[in-house]
Amino acid sequence: MKIAVIGCGYWGPNLVRNFIQTNKIEQVICCDLDQKRLDRMKGLYPSVETLKDLRELLDRPDLDAAVVATPVKTHHPIAKEFLSHGKHVLVEKPFTHSYDTALELIKLAEEKEKVLMVDHTFEYTAAVNKIRSIIENGELGKILYISCLRANLGLFQPDINVVWDLAPHDISTILHITGDLPTSVNCQGKAHFHHEIEDVATTTLNFKNGVIAFIHSSWLDPNKIRQTTIVGSRRMLVYNDIEPQEKIKIYDKGVEVPPYYDTFAEFQFSYRYGDIYSPRIEDYEPLKKECEHFITCVQKRLCPLSDGYSGLRVVSILEAANKSMRQKGRAVPIQGLKLLSQKFRNNGNGLMMNNGPRSI
Ligand SMILES: NC(=O)c1ccc[n+]([C@@H]2O[C@H](COP(=O)([O-])OP(=O)(O)OC[C@H]3O[C@@H](n4cnc5c(N)ncnc54)[C@H](O)[C@@H]3O)[C@@H](O)[C@H]2O)c1
Repeated sequence: MKIAVIGCGYWGPNLVRNFIQTNKIEQVICCDLDQKRLDRMKGLYPSVETLKDLRELLDRPDLDAAVVATPVKTHHPIAKEFLSHGKHVLVEKPFTHSYDTALELIKLAEEKEKVLMVDHTFEYTAAVNKIRSIIENGELGKILYISCLRANLGLFQPDINVVWDLAPHDISTILHITGDLPTSVNCQGKAHFHHEIEDVATTTLNFKNGVIAFIHSSWLDPNKIRQTTIVGSRRMLVYNDIEPQEKIKIYDKGVEVPPYYDTFAEFQFSYRYGDIYSPRIEDYEPLKKECEHFITCVQKRLCPLSDGYSGLRVVSILEAANKSMRQKGRAVPIQGLKLLSQKFRNNGNGLMMNNGPRSI
């Protein structure tokens, strides 16, 4: 299998390294408009082929697949070119810059019978999959709310705001662990430096079953923070992705409401302070697992776990967040909710029990 990585800036080299390390790729081709990036890739990995113009790749019969790791607004035109020329495609997050362009790529991949996958790295992370099974097992009880905090100083992006840059990780994680889709989104943000490119924002996802999820995204924070808190009716869970070990902690803490009371004076909450434990998590690089999954899907013609619809769900939420931000935080419904819910393949209780790869 030969694969081309388009865009070798900050993230592309991680994809190149992981594809090489799978030992399942005959040739990795690095493509970037910037010759300096290509020289750097050749210096790091002498076996790679390099070229500047992606058009030279389109008609190559020996090329099987392309990975798009360029700025977000170029994802759609580049992925479209490769799919139209019969290549399988893996696209970076966020999938595309709009609902319509994302849907167009899905339809094109279906028509050409090609694998279309989106890099939602966290769906392949051991900690996130552990959390999903903890929720599925009912350990936390009923989910009351989820709170995500993803902040650091920079990196400011010239073409997308902080929600499109950072929130895709949290959104794909929330959908993956709950197996559910929000019906509407509120978002408030502020652009302090670039006109209309918000550098700090809070997005709220409202779910039909009453669950609420808050996502705080910031390029303007003195500390690097990657933390998700899930509060359930039985237990609470904190996932700190920066922690080298013990990334997940489960707190046997909660609030108990008295079963009955006659007068307000008798009404009293009681607080439960129990044990805290940290479950064991497998140790592997999520991107490696994801690259291997893409190769398997191409070789066996399977629909990936993070397929085009998975990308579309995230894009739909991001678009609603942008609209809400322009309307001072008003709740905006998710576009295409019916289609996206149908493609979610859950088992009726809100959890994705059957969400494994399937034939395309
Ligand atoms: N999955 C993750 O955790 C993760 C992390 C970081 C970035 N990303 C995503 O990766 C993508 C790239 O981000 P980045 O930070 O590496 O950006 P970057 O600006 O550092 O790199 C982009 C590269 O693409 C090249 N490029 C642009 N147009 C091209 C074209 N037509 N042909 C060939 N090369 C072209 C540029 O020269 C540049 O080297 C974005 O979509 C971003 O959201 C994903």
